[in-house]
Amino acid sequence: MDALVKQWREDTPGCFNQIHFNNAGAGLMPRGVLDAMVVHLNREANLGAYESADDAEAAVADAYANVAKLLGAQPRNIAVVENSTVAFFQALSAFDFKRGDVIVTTRNDYISNQLAYLSLARRHGVEVRRAADLASGGADPQSVKELLRDPRVRLLAVTWVPTNSGLVQPVEALGEVAEAAGVPYLVDGCQAVGQIPADVTKLRCDFFSGTARKFLRGPRGIGFLYVSDRALKRGDFPLYIDMRGADWVSADDFAPAPDARRFENWEFAYSLVLGMGEAARYALDVGVEQGGRRARHLAATLRGKLNELSGIRVLDRGSELAAIVTIEVAGWDATELSKLLRTRGINTSASLRAYAVIDMDEKRVASALRLSPHYYNTEEEIERVVEELRTSTARGRTAS
Ligand SMILES: Cc1ncc(COP(=O)(O)O)c(C=O)c1O
Repeated sequence: MDALVKQWREDTPGCFNQIHFNNAGAGLMPRGVLDAMVVHLNREANLGAYESADDAEAAVADAYANVAKLLGAQPRNIAVVENSTVAFFQALSAFDFKRGDVIVTTRNDYISNQLAYLSLARRHGVEVRRAADLASGGADPQSVKELLRDPRVRLLAVTWVPTNSGLVQPVEALGEVAEAAGVPYLVDGCQAVGQIPADVTKLRCDFFSGTARKFLRGPRGIGFLYVSDRALKRGDFPLYIDMRGADWVSADDFAPAPDARRFENWEFAYSLVLGMGEAARYALDVGVEQGGRRARHLAATLRGKLNELSGIRVLDRGSELAAIVTIEVAGWDATELSKLLRTRGINTSASLRAYAVIDMDEKRVASALRLSPHYYNTEEEIERVVEELRTSTARGRTAS
């Protein structure tokens, strides 16, 4: 085994317990991430939580710096929040949508984002328009360009990599289109962070949401929002700004924080923040370019081998694919199959129709098995998973 892969695996206690192909759910944390959190929790237990927060000031600043570096941004542009959905919603709430305003999005945006657009439609009469897809999959920049011609468009919101397939949407091309049209641009980078190099300058986005636990390999329950200088200068702030995000300067007035902190809230999970910071540091050390290339290469190898098995339909579409492999297995409900694989020491997950109704209906599939390797996985693990699926599919066909 390559010395680097060996090192990455030695840094990752969970590697030795099972084959973890569920990085799109939550990646396995490196030991350093776990240690950063446990050390802080111990400090809180022994010295007091608020006192420990003071002691951790420099380490927290490093965490912001590492998350910022991962995105090609500055620490002043990073808001730390509970998860990617909260980050996305904080950004959405900065817009005063009114009846007739238009949100342009894609057919592959994340379920909770789509629900939020629909809620805005129901509550405020906002119109949701979805760009047409390219023949190869993913939003067509030309279609977005045409949709953005309408002066009522207030926002372009795009999910880079969806939850339920390996599709990679052309977020840089869409950023160019948004900038040319003068329309604010919000990117959901949740599944991309840690597997695809992200540079907010190239994306030209106003906001970018992400989470720690997936390909970034951080802990659960923490995420971040990148807020551009453009958005800060415009005076954008979240609807429900709290005492961390703003100063209450007089009975009827408040002043938002000068930086992205205005999108944060007061209660702050310090141990998780330190865990996310360490995950970002580790990702920078591995190199998102290098680690991501390997993860996507392993996924492509797996996809190729699964494609050759009868009874399996590979569902991923797109000219460029991420480290997420989705398949339909004849005679199997994906949740049941994922449970069975778990008993064989293989972690996967199931994507259900309800997670992505447009895409799943188009593919005519009720549930998909999702396998998402990372750079610390191995070719031998791929062989084992393919072998398990070969026997499972044979069993599925016998049973049906
Ligand atoms: C594309 C995408 N966006 C957003 C989210 C939501 O992330 P979180 O659970 O951290 O809010 C997910 C979670 O699976 C996702 O896949």
